[in-house]
Amino acid sequence: MLARISVVLNRTEWACAQSQVRCFKMAATGYQNGTGGTGKPQLSQWFIDRESKYGAHNYHPLPVVINKAEGVYMWDVEGKKYYDFLSAYSAVNQGHSHPKILEALAEQAKTLALTSRAFYNNVLGEYEEYMTKIFGYDKLLPMNTGVEGGETACKLARKWGYLKKKIPENQAKIIFAEGNFWGRTLAAISSSTDPSSYAGFGPYMPGYNIVPYNNLEALEEKLRDPTTCAFMVEPIQGEAGVVVPDAGYLKSVRELCDKHNVLWIADEVQTGLCRTGKLLAVDHENVRPDILILGKALSGGIYPVSAVLANDDVMLCIQPGEHGSTYGGNPLACRVGMAAIDVLLSEKLAENAEKMGQVLRAGLNTIPKDLVVTVRGKGLMNAIVIHESIDAWDVCLKLKENGLLAKPTHGDIIRLAPPLNINEQQLNDCVNIIKNTLLSYKKK
Ligand SMILES: Cc1ncc(COP(=O)(O)O)c(C=O)c1O
Repeated sequence: MLARISVVLNRTEWACAQSQVRCFKMAATGYQNGTGGTGKPQLSQWFIDRESKYGAHNYHPLPVVINKAEGVYMWDVEGKKYYDFLSAYSAVNQGHSHPKILEALAEQAKTLALTSRAFYNNVLGEYEEYMTKIFGYDKLLPMNTGVEGGETACKLARKWGYLKKKIPENQAKIIFAEGNFWGRTLAAISSSTDPSSYAGFGPYMPGYNIVPYNNLEALEEKLRDPTTCAFMVEPIQGEAGVVVPDAGYLKSVRELCDKHNVLWIADEVQTGLCRTGKLLAVDHENVRPDILILGKALSGGIYPVSAVLANDDVMLCIQPGEHGSTYGGNPLACRVGMAAIDVLLSEKLAENAEKMGQVLRAGLNTIPKDLVVTVRGKGLMNAIVIHESIDAWDVCLKLKENGLLAKPTHGDIIRLAPPLNINEQQLNDCVNIIKNTLLSYKKK
């Protein structure tokens, strides 16, 4: 019986890389190979329907089911090949399944994966030394996801505010910029100005102030408040649609925070690690935040790894027992983190991002303005704003048909962020796909 089903469903053998029992389940739910006359690939639809039936509906993915990725490419379960122009929201800066990072993961997994921080492990110190030397801070605090990095930074800033700035108990305030995004926990959404993030989840975290992004006067007004302990900001706002502040903004943020004795927290979870053409986005203005948050590409997409870096005057405000995470600083994450940074540096991915970013924006700028209103970004962190007469979701569906995967944000914006190891020939190929896809709207 199972043998017969596997003959009927032979394409699923490679596609699912699953057992015959699972194929049997697909047959039982009515799956047939091909399009079944619907014009839609039924294999993809089978996976989509299963997620929809058994999974929470907290995402609205593009209708493509990926089962393999390598370098700058991804493949769907029907075997179609795509350029990845999202890089898992900039987690896969090093390219999918980088062999050096995979090797580090596999080697460490064979020996020791997790001790918790109840005991020391022999890799964490090596990782902390490696990272603090590269980024120029006294200490590192390891976490797992980006949002935990943000949470850690906020806790550190509050503690510093009470211990060092002598802010009266429970009165510390943190300033955030309008349009910020740093994750989905209650602390993170409390600072959000996007109703789809915060609405329906109150009550919200007290002690937050919001200022417009890229507005130094509004920032200084809030910095004057003696109960302000920190200003947390993305050097380029990612989820808001790649919003690039004026040149000199970060330098002025640094000066104003110094002037008012307020910590500057830079959320480099998305901008960091070569994405914008420098190791850190703050490097474009040669400034250094008091607290640096890293995540995403700190593992090259292999494993959740995040980190917060600061000097002793800030980091040592947190004492044993006051913060942590079971998985934070585990040996696997540490090895993966070091390999991920090593790949970025040894393959000169910042330099490539800078060069390819210029090629990409030059190509995109040749698309007529009645199709693409704006092209913006730095390095390989870019976005296009689509003309209001065109639906950005529809554009992404067409891009998918043409072999390139990107995702719209805020209605009319499409983020364009390929892995940083993309070469010029591949990039020109992608520019042609994007251009031809958009030009097809002209002919209508
Ligand atoms: C700037 C920034 N910070 C924090 C986060 C949260 O990271 P994570 O989804 O790993 O919690 C994100 C995620 O997109 C982000 O873009």
